Amino acid sequence: MATVTKPKLAKPEVRQTLCFIGGEWVPSQSGKTFATINPATEEPIAQVAEGDAADIDAAAQAARNALEQGEWAKMDARDRGKLMHKLCDLLEAEAEELAALESLDNGKPVADAQAADVPLTIDCLRYYAGFADKIQGDTIPVRGNYFTYTRKEPVGVAGQIIPWNFPMLMVAWKWGPALAAGCTIVMKPAEQTPLTCLRMARLAQKAGIPDGVINVVPGYGPTAGASLVRHPGVDKIAFTGEHLTAQTIMKDASQTLKRLTFELGGKSPNIIFDDADLDAAIQGAHFGLYFNQGQCCCAGSRVFVQESIYDQFVERICELNRHRKLGNPLDPQTQQGPQVDQNQFDKIMKYIDLGKSEGAACLSGGERFGDRGYFVKPTVFANVTDQMAIAKDEIFGPVMSVLKFKDMQEVIQRGNNTFYGLAAAVWTKDIAKAHQMAAALKAGTVWVNCYDVFDAAAPFGGFKMSGMGRELGEKGLDAYLETKTVTVAL
Ligand code: NAI
Ligand code: MG
Repeated sequence: MATVTKPKLAKPEVRQTLCFIGGEWVPSQSGKTFATINPATEEPIAQVAEGDAADIDAAAQAARNALEQGEWAKMDARDRGKLMHKLCDLLEAEAEELAALESLDNGKPVADAQAADVPLTIDCLRYYAGFADKIQGDTIPVRGNYFTYTRKEPVGVAGQIIPWNFPMLMVAWKWGPALAAGCTIVMKPAEQTPLTCLRMARLAQKAGIPDGVINVVPGYGPTAGASLVRHPGVDKIAFTGEHLTAQTIMKDASQTLKRLTFELGGKSPNIIFDDADLDAAIQGAHFGLYFNQGQCCCAGSRVFVQESIYDQFVERICELNRHRKLGNPLDPQTQQGPQVDQNQFDKIMKYIDLGKSEGAACLSGGERFGDRGYFVKPTVFANVTDQMAIAKDEIFGPVMSVLKFKDMQEVIQRGNNTFYGLAAAVWTKDIAKAHQMAAALKAGTVWVNCYDVFDAAAPFGGFKMSGMGRELGEKGLDAYLETKTVTVAL
């Protein structure tokens, strides 16, 4: 029987490389540009406008005008929702090409972009489109002869700073609630991956979202990003990225006391008890760490395995890695692409060296793949102890640390022994144990017998230094609303 292999996708076209401000595509005022790199080949894909303070200022003014005077300010909430659905229709029509563009710019396998990034982006925007006309206040019984009610109003101009690991999806997580709430937006995409965000801005304009509602200024963090944070005409910052960057943003935002929401990193414990469905747990642990080249804020990077199944677990993860297909991300068969850039590649290789020198057993991978592109072989460290750097720090790469534990109380204490608190998972068939663990783990999300299950309706965010506030769900919308109390003497 002849085997059918899907043809490789043609290289997607790059159409938008300028700043998008007030509905116009404009070069940066300095005239500077920067290269966005194809991480599979290390070659530049395109030169993109490098925005800075002046461009951020123009974008903030355009967003302010759209918020206070334009069509958007007067539009019925239901019509806002309609425009968001229209944007989703256009995203659906270009789904194939968007997936390819995401793969080209970020390095993720196009199959993953098609199965996850693009459909989840559309789902999130549609979920929030449905909220646009369902934002309402309360009537409140107060003492005395007064009538008191609350209004939910848009927080204003939202500054949004996103990372490179899920470029399109992060756009949706940020634009969705902001647009539903009636805010206007200045977005700074990550310097590594600006292309799909710019394409989405073009589609938003095509959908009829009024000029100035969405503005996009590509550029670097300490320049364009910091200017956005400091800008007095920006009311809120929503940021996803590293906790160290969030600390800088918090300082910079203190001048204007902006509203802040942060979605930061993690060192999430994935805990496998010996009474688990082992096949499911192994698949889940593999996916929970290696998905997206390990570049997930919630990656299950501390895998705690109960002692009686430890050796079997490690052996079977290594076996899965032997069959993992690395290569050209645009090839539909590819399962793992390159890391996003040289910095991330170097950081991961440094941690692999540290793991080896600290005495953990590197049983799979542990080196680069090929000699071109930022590829790292899927790596497994066994005999990892809690004090090792690979057990403490967020590596953000395909490096799994497998730790051995004896009992439940011990693993709760060790699992929580980190300043992060983004996610955790538990694998067991014992329903009481599952719920006890869910209550005991200090994390914004706990998965039981699954990993990386996301839904636009389910709030996501971090305990401790993994974040502030929540995204997604109704909670995610609240972060873009102010509550106004109105009291009328009767
Ligand atoms: P980063 O936090 O520095 O970058 C994320 C975004 O913030 C980018 O758009 C960047 O331009 C912007 N930014 C950087 N400095 C800024 C500043 N001073 N003011 C305003 N905006 C600023 O993360 P980076 O450097 O790309 O990656 C470093 C590490 O952070 C990774 O190795 C990983 O551990 C973690 N990370 C976590 C992510 C998550 O999803 N929670 C996503 C990306 C990175
Ligand atoms: Mg950084």
